[in-house]
Amino acid sequence: MTRGLFITLEGGEGSGKSTQSKRLQAILESEGHSVVITREPGGSPGAEAIRSLLVTGETDRWDGMTEALLLFAARRDHVERTIKPALDRGAIVICDRFTDSTMAYQGYGHDLGREPVEQLNKIALNDIKPDITLILDLAVEEGLKRAVSRGGDEQRYEDMDVAFHHRLREGFIDISKRDPNRCHIIDATGSEEGRSLSPSKCRVTFGEI
Ligand code: TMP
Repeated sequence: MTRGLFITLEGGEGSGKSTQSKRLQAILESEGHSVVITREPGGSPGAEAIRSLLVTGETDRWDGMTEALLLFAARRDHVERTIKPALDRGAIVICDRFTDSTMAYQGYGHDLGREPVEQLNKIALNDIKPDITLILDLAVEEGLKRAVSRGGDEQRYEDMDVAFHHRLREGFIDISKRDPNRCHIIDATGSEEGRSLSPSKCRVTFGEI
């Protein structure tokens, strides 16, 4: 879509995306790249305001379609105000979650289906897709254990039933099978060091950036 490179990290609860995003940023910056690190839901003031509506409160606060609409409202603002300007400057954008999360959590987890998410992506975002997506995969129980031990007040999705988390994990695997050139599954089990996106792993995944 533009001159920079758009990388997303995806995965279920406790998969370690935020830590790995920062490591990836450090590696790419040490090689002289200009890097913008951002996250969803959020990444712009308006989108951060919408985030709090989604990640706090009762699990049944919204149904799947309402969540998807809120997420795409936030995402449009984020893309227009943060992501596109950075890519236009030629930066590498590393984004912690993007549309694949809506597909996995709302499309598969909440059983909304693929079609509404695909339609919303066309209407709200002109079908923007990342250049590279790294999907950090690990057992649902291990991820939830890590997420719960982290604590915090953004627990709404962690509190959803285990079957929801199994559906979204399968969703991410299905997403990667449908788009194997863009999506790469990374085993996120074990220690943080062991699953680190080391320079050699990045080279294997990205080739020459
Ligand atoms: P985070 O914990 O990775 O910051 O994400 C906040 C929560 O929002 C997480 O539990 C997953 C959820 N989420 C969705 O359900 N759909 C989406 O499209 C996005 C971006 C996040």
